[in-house]
Amino acid sequence: MTSAPAFSLQLPRVMGHRGAKALAPENTLASIAAAAATGVKWVEFDVMLTADGEPVLFHDETLKRTTGAPGTMAASPFELVRALDASLDFGRKYGRRVGAGFRGRADCRVPSLEEAVACLIEHSLTPNVEIKPTPGLAAETAEVALDQLQRLWPQDRLPPLISSFQRESLAAAKRVAPAWPRGFLAEGLPADWRAAMAELGCVSLHLNWRRVRQRDVAAAHAAGYAVAAYTVNGTRAARRLWGKGVDCLITDRPDRLLGLENAPEGAGR
Ligand code: G3P
Ligand code: MG
Repeated sequence: MTSAPAFSLQLPRVMGHRGAKALAPENTLASIAAAAATGVKWVEFDVMLTADGEPVLFHDETLKRTTGAPGTMAASPFELVRALDASLDFGRKYGRRVGAGFRGRADCRVPSLEEAVACLIEHSLTPNVEIKPTPGLAAETAEVALDQLQRLWPQDRLPPLISSFQRESLAAAKRVAPAWPRGFLAEGLPADWRAAMAELGCVSLHLNWRRVRQRDVAAAHAAGYAVAAYTVNGTRAARRLWGKGVDCLITDRPDRLLGLENAPEGAGR
């Protein structure tokens, strides 16, 4: 018999993705501020280590897509990374206008985790910190990030939710911060999800929205887990997923999905 998770977690109905990726450059302070300006209460972002071991908000192994710089994050020291403007991809996809809460180009640099924490506290946001290690650094990335987060995060606030596709990262998170909730990230539901989630002490299951099946949501709920789907930007898909029982939608467009639940059918896109 699978035992129930040690914690239960009240996920929000809507969570910003990489801050609010469609409203400001992903994984930047501008993106966190833009998410806060929509009224969303939680944001997801990715954490990776620089060459000299500084945890920063970043998604890709290479610097090119978002900053235009050559090389990889794993080979780049923090001094270099912190000076990079991370708005290249945003500018190409969405035009140059950054959303509400924007205070200048400095907010579009690659932020350290420490800077992000200050910004989250300022905006009263709860983070879903996705550990996004470069190959070979799964445990170390979680250890460094969790060590720092435990020092910086105020004890009187909801603790961060730590998620990862890497089981080794979740195991390290469990060792370093056993009392903080963990989310099991997967594309679709793996065959061994029950054993893996129990072993890693996870409280939530985060699936690619295209792979979410109603019976999987029901099974996860019956086992005591909350279910999140990423990355959901359209209102029709959002309604369908809520209809399947998904608890939380992780979205580039929190402005579009917030409040949608109570809006009449046909509202929005
Ligand atoms: O945490 C949900 C989502 O961010 C996972 O995918 O590639 O956008 O980090 P990705
Ligand atoms: Mg992510």
